[in-house]
Amino acid sequence: MSDNIDAKLPSQPEHNSDGTVKPGYLPVAPVEHKPRVTDTDPKAARRAERQVASMFALSMILVVVFVIAYVTIDVTAVVYVPVLGEIGASNLVLGLTFGGAIFFIGAGAIQWAKKLMPDVEVVQERHSMESSTSEETEAAGNYERGKEESGFARYKIIRRSLLGAMALFPIPLIVMLRDLWQSDGENPVEILSSTSWNDGMRIVPDIGHDTGENVQGIRPEEIPVGGLVSALPLSIKDLKKDPVANMRDRGKAAIILVRMDPEEIRSQQGEGWDYQGILAYSKICTHVGCPIALYEHRTHHLLCPCHQSTFDLADSGDVIFGPAARRMPQLPIRLDEEGFLVARSDFQEPVGPSFWERG
Ligand code: FES
Repeated sequence: MSDNIDAKLPSQPEHNSDGTVKPGYLPVAPVEHKPRVTDTDPKAARRAERQVASMFALSMILVVVFVIAYVTIDVTAVVYVPVLGEIGASNLVLGLTFGGAIFFIGAGAIQWAKKLMPDVEVVQERHSMESSTSEETEAAGNYERGKEESGFARYKIIRRSLLGAMALFPIPLIVMLRDLWQSDGENPVEILSSTSWNDGMRIVPDIGHDTGENVQGIRPEEIPVGGLVSALPLSIKDLKKDPVANMRDRGKAAIILVRMDPEEIRSQQGEGWDYQGILAYSKICTHVGCPIALYEHRTHHLLCPCHQSTFDLADSGDVIFGPAARRMPQLPIRLDEEGFLVARSDFQEPVGPSFWERG
């Protein structure tokens, strides 16, 4: 281990002939350097080495558990967690194992750096960015010395366990690619063309888990001109106990209601599909499916936060900017006998991302 290099720095500034201060002056008295226990006690160093290797090994085990959990846990299974309530067992285990794998690689690296790597304080001198040949040679020497001092070659068990952890680490990402082509043979256009909207289906505000409970619907007078409401079909409350069906239905049936002066509506996807200036559009972006609710009421533009696609809701939801290739599907609406807004039918075109068009 090298000596404390701060001790070699002058305590008073030295000046060049032009009066400028020479580099290397440390204006503050250096703090006394205390060696760590692992610098002086070989047993402590070996203990630290085992700790670091154990963390990398734990990371490897968690990756294996992740893969087993991904394949074996039923995606509909739920578990009760105090405070959080009921949550998907698969999501919980996958999150904990993958998060743990990342954590133990990071924690092992920190322990390694704190307890085993060289403990010296270095002052960085500020000077011209261009390096001289001698500086480059010195840098190359420093690199070699750093490699030697970090112990990457010496601590074989750490090196191997780190390489093992890094080699297994990408596996969860590869395993999850399976979801990209898992369709159980269903045609995506058919899946996206049918939602739970139908004639007379009540529109209710989306208030999360309790959507549809204790709420009868939305009356037109509750939406001011310029306002926007995120909404769902009332039938969503029947899926409360089925997390997968609930998630799928939300993913397809989510809508936004916006209200504008009827005079400002230039076109719609069907004759009279609004109700007194209230228009219902899918909330799922036709690019790659982000939910959208960024509405600029003076221009009637709807902006997707993911890749900035912009749709003109006063003009049939047409795309006016960005990567989306398809307009936002409009839902025809009307009023029911009790004065609540309801759908007049399902969407007339597929909702959500348009990847299937390229197939
Ligand atoms: S998902 Fe909306 S622009 Fe990409």
